[in-house]
Amino acid sequence: MPSKKCLAVVGIGRWGKNLLREFDRVALVEWCFYKGSPETKKWLKKNYPGIKTAASFDQILHDQSIDAVIIATPIKAHYELAKKALLAGKHVFVEKPITDNVKQAQELVRLAAKKKRILFVGHIFSYHPVWAKIKRLNDVEPFKHASFVWNKLGTFNEELVFNLASHDVAMALDLFGSSSTSLAPNKLVLDKPTSIKTIENSGMVTDSDIIYIRLGFKNSRSCTIYINRVSNFKNKTITLATNKNVYLWENDRLLKLDKKSAAFKLIYQSTKTPLEIECTEFIKCITRNKKPHTDGGFGLGVVRVLSKI
Ligand SMILES: NC(=O)c1ccc[n+]([C@@H]2O[C@H](COP(=O)([O-])OP(=O)(O)OC[C@H]3O[C@@H](n4cnc5c(N)ncnc54)[C@H](OP(=O)(O)O)[C@@H]3O)[C@@H](O)[C@H]2O)c1
Repeated sequence: MPSKKCLAVVGIGRWGKNLLREFDRVALVEWCFYKGSPETKKWLKKNYPGIKTAASFDQILHDQSIDAVIIATPIKAHYELAKKALLAGKHVFVEKPITDNVKQAQELVRLAAKKKRILFVGHIFSYHPVWAKIKRLNDVEPFKHASFVWNKLGTFNEELVFNLASHDVAMALDLFGSSSTSLAPNKLVLDKPTSIKTIENSGMVTDSDIIYIRLGFKNSRSCTIYINRVSNFKNKTITLATNKNVYLWENDRLLKLDKKSAAFKLIYQSTKTPLEIECTEFIKCITRNKKPHTDGGFGLGVVRVLSKI
């Protein structure tokens, strides 16, 4: 049994806490680093008293025992931290989206290749077991259209498109913009959308809180993405149509429309969480030098689309 990989988690906010919990199960989290909020300090002391808090990011980079750095800071900070970590020879897991602009994403992709390090972007839905099932269905009976609908309240601290639409754009590219199949995932080539249209963009709390986008792809395939972050209820659904069938993804369930009874019937339910699959996959990638499905190139493809919306 090989020894556990040693990690540092940078950014221990809402999402970083989840990553820390999950990575602590599959690896050895030695260090963490954040801006210094007293709440985070208290939380770490209570929940992870054995994990050291670094005085600076450089302290982590100088530690030769650290194999990889996990970055879960606000999007603006991704680039600098990922760049420094790659230059120091560490593998990098960076939360989605990889950066908030194309130029910096390209630079990280080039740097990871030069340093021969894994650059993994946390596009979590790509690791959802229901998504894996959808990709298998797509191989047999290609989907023509997908409708992504997401209602929630907040958060408002990041820009809507980069923070939230990044999830849906990543799935759309994975499904319609990828020339690979689930049988040959290593042959992934991302095709750009043939059209990107913003149908609606309204601001209530910030400049943009409700957005409706349409992406067109080759062979008359398309998707629409509707996100409302000023909603009083929370739901995320994806409706997918082939020439013959309609499917609905809701939470951990995949349903198929029975046209005779006009009712959706359950065809698949997942038991594992996407986060545990994603974190395990990252460790596998750095252990076996395996190219991640959501590598820097995939993350760059997502940012290219986001920056055009
Ligand atoms: N995959 C998903 O489903 C998912 C879901 C939510 C968010 N995310 C992603 O996760 C990332 C973090 O989001 P969040 O909601 O967790 O943010 P958050 O709650 O604001 O937490 C940000 C954390 O980063 C720390 N931080 C800020 N600037 C830093 C810097 N320059 N260097 C080091 N640490 C820094 C903060 O320190 P303090 O604790 O001292 O303030 C805090 O711990 C974003 O990239 C977001 O897109 C992903």
